[in-house]
Amino acid sequence: MSQFAQQPLNAELKFLADLSAPLVYVPSKGGGDQTEHLGNYRTHAVEIHNAREQLPATDLDREGFKLLSHDSAVSDFYDDAALSSTYHPELIELIKRATGARRVEIFDDTRRSSSSAKQREHGTRDPANIVHNDYTHESGPRRLEDFFSDSPDQVPRLKQRRFAIINAWRPIGEPVVDHPLVLCDARSVRGDDLVAVERRGADRIGELQVAMYQPDQRWYYYPRMHRGEVLLFKTYDSALDGRTRFTPHSSCKDPRAPADAAPRESLETRCMVFF
Ligand code: OGA
Ligand code: FE
Repeated sequence: MSQFAQQPLNAELKFLADLSAPLVYVPSKGGGDQTEHLGNYRTHAVEIHNAREQLPATDLDREGFKLLSHDSAVSDFYDDAALSSTYHPELIELIKRATGARRVEIFDDTRRSSSSAKQREHGTRDPANIVHNDYTHESGPRRLEDFFSDSPDQVPRLKQRRFAIINAWRPIGEPVVDHPLVLCDARSVRGDDLVAVERRGADRIGELQVAMYQPDQRWYYYPRMHRGEVLLFKTYDSALDGRTRFTPHSSCKDPRAPADAAPRESLETRCMVFF
């Protein structure tokens, strides 16, 4: 590991400043366009700690995230057919083992790159540039209803038991040197740090949360994540028993990264997890 990765990353993250302007999030479609954020956002300098050293054993129900070693049989993560035939079954088993879930359904694969050339080449999205959590108390269950819209009879039974949405994020190119995924330890997030925002997607109107800054938030990243690792993080949990439900996250420029660092290329796979 290069020397700089041992030190905390001092980076700028973008937070919601106040509620003075209407809030809408318009996700990029991929291929070189940028995600748009209507609202009043402000950048804060944040110290982002090395989770490999400081949080060697995390828990999805506590910090909200967990790093796992995982060597996939897939070599080309840009190959959709390989994701369906090989990666998804691997991930379903991995998540069942990591969480004890009895059923896992995969509903989205999103590839991103920090290079606009790669974005155009592969039709991939830009890295996140505001602190957010993908779902809310309302939109988690709505995503489940949408997913089962062809078999709505399953929905009431599924909703009677606990379910969660977990993202599985992994590098799909070179080890990540710049634009890492950064996560907030969910124990350091206060309820009113998070604000619901309409997500105006091309195919569906949803709702996500954006975060306001407060100095007690504790931020982490995994330096030089590579293709043999997958980072699970929880973006929704139906349980209201005190366990973590939401995990704010973003990406940022690492000011220490060399200008010629390989672009970040990643895949995040969204999974509905039934207990
Ligand atoms: C996510 C996400 C941001 C990024 O996986 O939900 O917001 O830059 N990722 O990879
Ligand atoms: Fe996200």
